[in-house]
Amino acid sequence: MELLRDALLFIHLVGFAALFGGAFVQIRDDSRVVNSAMLHGALTQVVSGILLVGVIEGIDEGMDYTKIAVKFAIGLVVALLCWVNRRKPEVPHGLFWGIFALTLANVAVAVFW
Ligand code: HEM
Repeated sequence: MELLRDALLFIHLVGFAALFGGAFVQIRDDSRVVNSAMLHGALTQVVSGILLVGVIEGIDEGMDYTKIAVKFAIGLVVALLCWVNRRKPEVPHGLFWGIFALTLANVAVAVFW
């Protein structure tokens, strides 16, 4: 089970890299989109995150459910925003920076909480 947890955490970190990287490469652009790296990264975070919770519960490592609830809520909002705006030729600046900030917020929750 530890190997499965580590494999899921690996996928979770790759998903974060795709989501963050897909946004980061656009920060200097005038016009920004939800590109496929962001969309697939965001969806990967939700799926791998839920599976991680299941496996960690399975190995009974103890879990801070409030932390996970916050991460789930933020992850779901990011995934929904990416999904709804996936075909738009351009997204509003506020929405782009919202996705960017929420992604960083979820990393901060994962690391510092
Ligand atoms: C924008 C979405 C998300 C981002 C950027 C993100 C980022 C991260 C990062 C960077 C870590 C590794 C932290 C470390 O090892 O110190 C992590 C761990 C974790 N994440 Fe997420 N996450 C997201 C969404 C989610 C969701 C939706 C869930 C659950 C429903 C979730 C559950 C977890 C769990 C359980 C761990 C801990 C794994 C462990 O300790 O082995 N994450 N997350």
